[in-house]
Amino acid sequence: MAKSGPRSAPRRLLVTGGAGFIGSAFVRRLLREDPDRPLIVLDKLTYAGNRANLEPVADSPGFRFVVGDIADAQVVEPLAGEVDAIVNFAAESHVDRSIESPDAFIRTDVYGTYVLLDAARRHGHRRYVQVSTDEVYGSLATGSAGESDRLEPRSPYAASKAAGDMLVLAYGTTYGLPVGVTRASNTFGPYQYPEKILPLFTTNAIDGQPLPLYGDGLHVRDWLYVDDHCAAVELVLSDGAAGEVYNVAGGNELTNLDLTHLILDELGLPRSLIRSVPDRPGHDRRYSVDAGKIRELGWRPQASFRHALSETIRWYVDHPEWWRPLKDGEYLGYYRRQYAERLEESSSLP
Ligand code: NAD
Ligand code: DAU
Repeated sequence: MAKSGPRSAPRRLLVTGGAGFIGSAFVRRLLREDPDRPLIVLDKLTYAGNRANLEPVADSPGFRFVVGDIADAQVVEPLAGEVDAIVNFAAESHVDRSIESPDAFIRTDVYGTYVLLDAARRHGHRRYVQVSTDEVYGSLATGSAGESDRLEPRSPYAASKAAGDMLVLAYGTTYGLPVGVTRASNTFGPYQYPEKILPLFTTNAIDGQPLPLYGDGLHVRDWLYVDDHCAAVELVLSDGAAGEVYNVAGGNELTNLDLTHLILDELGLPRSLIRSVPDRPGHDRRYSVDAGKIRELGWRPQASFRHALSETIRWYVDHPEWWRPLKDGEYLGYYRRQYAERLEESSSLP
């Protein structure tokens, strides 16, 4: 297949999963730049989807919100007929939930991706962007994964994302659909559902609750600010070569213990809140990707990590009305299942 970028960026978009953490940041970004841009969000509003995330741009003339499932072809088909491109953020996204119950991950991250691709193919879309993850490469002791490295997903979540990526690339090869895949590192920022480490630990700390650090806390993640993640996806949409994968790295590798210290220091709270709890099964020790290829397209992370982290933590301090109802709802049952026993077995760090 010819590997070239599109002549001009597709304008009419279907953004799936646009009510989640990163998808909503992407939609806010695009509609702030151009409120008239025709942009449909399709989101199932699972526990992680939240219409409040889109309130700042809900009145944009070009914006429409549809509640629906990407795995439902009857919902996707007519929407695909109204746009030039799909950007797929929709996914079950939390590793711990995939360990507890993989079913929804296979349905959304694999079958849902297929439904979107098939609609894009039939409507002759100009671009399909799959928002994927660095987790598909598995755990790396040293070095950074390149885009052509072997995929070694180790959790049901990572495996479902890798399967989605394979389908996307197959649609590019077989049908000539101009696809692009981004594989980004751990993303942080405002509006992140409080199951993920940063909002979980920040909001627990604000409430004086323990911070359940898995195992020895020396697992490494590379932190990427959400606006930089969105800029990378926007760039692949406009300038990415068809059929290509682009890694996106924050360039801020930290152990979970160091991240936890930064959170507590920012809040002026004691390290005694940290509890070492039994580890996540199959817990990947370290992720790291080489982002040289997207840098060649002109992408660079713009955020200063320390500044963005501090702003993000302050955002959670200033917006309890956003996260408190989430922590009191569906999350409460999940939290008890996930953490009650672990916290009973917890210890303070040496
Ligand atoms: P999220 O869990 O916050 O949001 C996911 C959104 O998808 C929610 O709004 C949810 O309602 C929606 N959704 C789920 N199933 C759906 C379905 N069947 N049909 C329609 N909508 C559905 O996730 P996020 O953290 O914003 O991640 C977005 C994407 O980015 C995911 O594909 C994820 O794999 C990828 N990613 C995330 C990170 C990260 O650190 N959060 C890093 C790299 C890649
Ligand atoms: O790397 C990209 C991935 O980053 C994305 O694809 C996923 O969607 C996103 O959820 C994230 O996956 P992680 O598993 O790395 O994120 P999480 O916030 O769940 O965990 C980050 C690290 O913190 C990980 O090493 C596990 C640890 N952790 C997590 C939680 C929730 C804890 O120590 N305690 C916790 O309670």
